[in-house]
Amino acid sequence: MCGIVGYIGSEEAAPILIRGLKKLEYRGYDSAGIAVLGAGGLEVCKSKGALRFLEEKIQSGTGKALTGSAGIGHTRWATHGEPSDINSHPHTDVSGKIAVVHNGIIENHAKLKAWLEAHGVSFRSETDTEVIAHLIDFHFNGDLLQAVLEALKRLEGSYALGIICEEDPERIIAVRRESPLVIGAGKGENLIASDVPALLEHTRDVYYLEDREAAVLYRDHVEFYSEEGEVRRKELSHVEWDAAAAEKGGYAHFMLKEIHDQPKALTDTLRPRLKTDGPPARRSISLEEIGFDGSWAEAGRVVIAACGTAWHAAMIGKYAFEHLTRIPADADIASEYRYRDPIFDRKDIFIIISQSGETADTLAAMRMAKKSGARIIAITNVVGSTLAREADLVMYTWAGPEIAVASTKAFTTQLMCIYLIALQFGLLRGTITEEGLPGYIDALEQLSGQADKLLADKETIQRFAYQQFNKSKVFYMGRLFDYAVSLESALKLKEVSYTHSEAFAAGELKHGPIALVDDSTLVVAICTQSALFEKMDSNIKEVKARGAATAVITYDDVSRFDKTADVVFRIPRTLESLSPILSVIPCQLYAYYIAVQRGLDPDKPRNLAKSVTVE
Ligand code: M6R
Repeated sequence: MCGIVGYIGSEEAAPILIRGLKKLEYRGYDSAGIAVLGAGGLEVCKSKGALRFLEEKIQSGTGKALTGSAGIGHTRWATHGEPSDINSHPHTDVSGKIAVVHNGIIENHAKLKAWLEAHGVSFRSETDTEVIAHLIDFHFNGDLLQAVLEALKRLEGSYALGIICEEDPERIIAVRRESPLVIGAGKGENLIASDVPALLEHTRDVYYLEDREAAVLYRDHVEFYSEEGEVRRKELSHVEWDAAAAEKGGYAHFMLKEIHDQPKALTDTLRPRLKTDGPPARRSISLEEIGFDGSWAEAGRVVIAACGTAWHAAMIGKYAFEHLTRIPADADIASEYRYRDPIFDRKDIFIIISQSGETADTLAAMRMAKKSGARIIAITNVVGSTLAREADLVMYTWAGPEIAVASTKAFTTQLMCIYLIALQFGLLRGTITEEGLPGYIDALEQLSGQADKLLADKETIQRFAYQQFNKSKVFYMGRLFDYAVSLESALKLKEVSYTHSEAFAAGELKHGPIALVDDSTLVVAICTQSALFEKMDSNIKEVKARGAATAVITYDDVSRFDKTADVVFRIPRTLESLSPILSVIPCQLYAYYIAVQRGLDPDKPRNLAKSVTVE
C-alpha cells in the first residue's frame, strides 16, 4: 500500500531512488514520483502509471534536472484521489521548499484541509497527504525536525513519512505510525524504505522504527527521537537476505520464481526447528528458539487469525490443531474478528499469521487479543515487522522476500510453521507420542523434495492451462483440508487472471452452488482425504452430469478418479494432514499460466497491493 524510499549520501540520488522504488513497486504501482535536493534547490518529478513512465519523463527531460545527493521517492496505491500526475507523491507546500512522501491514511485530513484553507493555503491535489506538507510549512521556522514534530501532533491515522526541505538541506526526516519503515545504515550514506529489499543494494544494516518514532538521517549518522522529541537509542539489526533473493533469478515473473522457491523455503523453515536427541538418537522438534515452552501447551483453545491467503493457512491450522492436538481451534478472518464481540479466555492462545506482518486488520485483531490477556504467537515472513515486534513469540517463515502480490511461498511456509507448532503442542499434550513424532518429521522433511518433483513437471499444468484458457468459470471443491486448499486456489486464480473463480466445500454443492455449473465451467476437485474419496467421486459425477469439465488433484498412487474425471493431476504421497503443502502447487501454477496466457502481469494484478496497511 504505497512504497517510500529516501537517500542522503554522496552519489546522485535520483537513480538510487528509482532503483529502490523498483524493489517496492509490488506495494503499489498506479503512479510514482521523486524529489531531489541539489544546488538548485528542491526539484520534483512525478507521473501517473507504472514506474517506467516516471523514468521516461526524467530521461526525456520533461522532468526537471533532478541532480543532487539527497532525495525521497514514492510508488503509489491510490486511496484518496484517482491515480494522476497531480495526485502522485511527493507533495509539496505552497512555496515548494518542503516535499513529503507518505504511506498510510490521514483520517482527519478533511478537517485539517478546511483549517489550512481558512489560513490561506490553496490545495493542488485530492490526496490526504498534501495536508502534511502544508502543516509542516505552517510550523517551519528553520528547523525541519521541530516543524515535523509539531505537525505530527495534529495528524490522526497511519503514516510512514519521508520529508526533505531545501531550507534544512543536510538531512531527511522519517517518521512512522502504524505503517512500516526501515532505516538503512550505509557508509557515508543513509536510506529509508518501506521494505528491506529496497535497501539491500546499499546495506544490510538496518534500524526498525517503532510506532511514533522519528529518524533524522544525515550523511554520516542517524539520530532517533520519540514524537515528543526525546532522544532514543536504537539497536542495529543485520539482514541475512542477500540482494539476489529479491531478484527474479531468470524467471519471467516473481510469481513463477517464488513458486519455484518453495522447496528451498520449506527446508529453510523446517531445518532450524529440528534436533536430534539421544542416545538412542531420536529426532524431535525444537521451538526453544522462539521461546516456546511447556506452559504454552496448557492452552484451552487456539484461535488463528489472518487475512487472505494467510487466513487459508489459518483454516488448515484449525484442522491440523484439532487433528493433531485435540485442542479446540478456530480460524478467524482478522477483518471480521476485529469488529465482532468475541469471547476471550486468558487461557486462549492466538496464532496470528501475516506474510508482511503489517496488515492493518491482522494487527488490530492481534492487539484486541493481547489486550484481553491472551498470549500471542506470530507467524510472519518479515523480520522486525510490527507483528513480530508486538507478539509474545515469533516464528519466522524463512521464505525470503515475497515480491509478487499473489502469495505462494509464504503460504506453504506458513503451513510448515503451523504443523511444527501443532506437533509440538501434540507432543506436550500427549496426543502425539515420542515414537510417533519421527514419522511426522520424516514426512515434513520429504515435502521439499516432493515439491521439487511436482515443479519439474510444471509443463503438464501449463498445457492444461492452455486447453482451459477460455473457461469463464472455474470452481474448486474439496472437503476438510482440501476445502481450505480450494479457497486458496480460487483466490490465486481470481487475483492474477481475473477469472470468476470460487471454492466450495464439496458437500455444500447440492445446497446451492451446483446451480452455477454448466458447460462453460471447469471444476477442479482436490482429493487427498481418503475417507472422503467416495463422496468426492459422487460430487465429481454430479458436476460432470451438468456439463462441467473436471480435473482432479490426488496422490500418485490413487487411481479411483481416473475414470470419473476428465484429467487427473498427481501429487506425491504424503500424510493426509500435510497434503495442502503439495496439493496447492498445481493450483498456483495453473493461476500463473492462465494469467500469462491472457497477457496479464501476474506480479502486479489490478487493484491489489502486496501489503494492506490500511483498513
Ligand atoms: O501480509 P499478509 O499475509 O498479512 O497479507 C494478507 C493478504 O492481504 C494476502 O494474503 C493477500 O490475500 C494476497 N494477495 C493473497 O495472494
